[in-house]
Amino acid sequence: MKKREQFTGRLAVVLAMAGSAIGLGNIWRFPYLVGQNGGAAFILVYILACALLAIPVFLSECVIGRRSGSSTFGAMRKLAPGSNYRWAGLVTVITPVLLLSFYSVVGGWSVDYLLKACTLRFTQDSAGVFEELLSSTWEPIFMHTAFMVGTAIVILLGVKKGIERFTKVTMPLLFILIIIIVVFGLTLPGAGKGVEYLVKPDFTKITPSVITSAMGQAFFSMSLGVGTILTYASYVSKEENLMVSAGGTAVFDLLFAVLAGFAVMPAVFAAGIQPGQGPGLLFDTLPYIFSQMTPWLGAVISILFFLSVLVAALTSSISLLEVGVAYLVEEKGVSRTKATIGLGALVWAIGVACSLSGGFFDFLDHLCSDWLMPFGGLLFAMFVGWKMSKADVRDELTNGGTRNRILFNVVYFLIRYIAPIGILGIFLTILLG
Ligand code: PHE
Repeated sequence: MKKREQFTGRLAVVLAMAGSAIGLGNIWRFPYLVGQNGGAAFILVYILACALLAIPVFLSECVIGRRSGSSTFGAMRKLAPGSNYRWAGLVTVITPVLLLSFYSVVGGWSVDYLLKACTLRFTQDSAGVFEELLSSTWEPIFMHTAFMVGTAIVILLGVKKGIERFTKVTMPLLFILIIIIVVFGLTLPGAGKGVEYLVKPDFTKITPSVITSAMGQAFFSMSLGVGTILTYASYVSKEENLMVSAGGTAVFDLLFAVLAGFAVMPAVFAAGIQPGQGPGLLFDTLPYIFSQMTPWLGAVISILFFLSVLVAALTSSISLLEVGVAYLVEEKGVSRTKATIGLGALVWAIGVACSLSGGFFDFLDHLCSDWLMPFGGLLFAMFVGWKMSKADVRDELTNGGTRNRILFNVVYFLIRYIAPIGILGIFLTILLG
């Protein structure tokens, strides 16, 4: 058997996982959910959902991936031959296809905004840019197509190395740009209201649907329940300290989202935009921020910003398409080219429907984030907590008993009890409520 490739060292692992995790979920989805779900209270629930549900699932996927050294289907076969858990592989085929179809529409919006930034559109008063984009039928579809073609080309050429090199520059750049935007946003008149909105929780705002959205967002943002993290972890060498590198990535993902919230929300209030308007929030707010900067600065920052957003979105979308392609290639013997084109075309077609119908877009978004991803995560956590032997799990998370020994007990408890009960409990509340 061919020896499987492995990531070289901590940086490569963290970058690949972070590349998948950090994307439109942090920059686009998180701020608008904060706005829809009542600000600071949502952020608190979100942090809890990350700590109690998502991070344990993240580590579960890492354990399964590294222990088995294979992607989802193979992993289940290897670690629990003949058990019904093999069907868990299915969530990793269906969910990414549905998810990528609307993700790619938003990816298309970013392409559109990058082009607009390059033509200096954001240096003038740019209120209504987003409405303009959405009111056209063909422009968003064209941009969605471009984004999907770009994703497919990366998968086909296997230019992951190139992407990785690119990511090493754009990820830190995105981080720095967000900080610049936060600082600038805070100086806008009226921004204080936005800060208050982000830090002063109103606990009466916490409802079952807020909790569901927070859980869904935690899974969405950390790329969970679709086999991506599992597959990436299968490339991690045995010497690597999973708990620290993978856990660190998850924490970083959370920080990134909160930072994006602070980049967007103060400006929302400064500009008098409705915080609860939904998916268009980021795309309505940013033009306002850029137009308030000195023109040359607005031009430079907007171009760099959308370029980085696009790369962040691409490193996530390739990780989504790759799960399905790998399944078709490894399990069904389809050629890589055929798998990529076939699956890409399917995703594209569903995406066109999303682009044309906001209702369908919302439906798929909620179906994937609030149901399918937590469901996949539930299966992974139960597999690690109840199906695998505790000794094996300990071996993976403590590097053979040499590290994180105390932390392990906490994490194992979360994986075995808290995460599954929490996810099931939230599902039940919604179903019965
Ligand atoms: N985590 C990505 C983001 O935040 C989206 C994603 C989900 C990527 C699932 C891969 C798998 O944008």
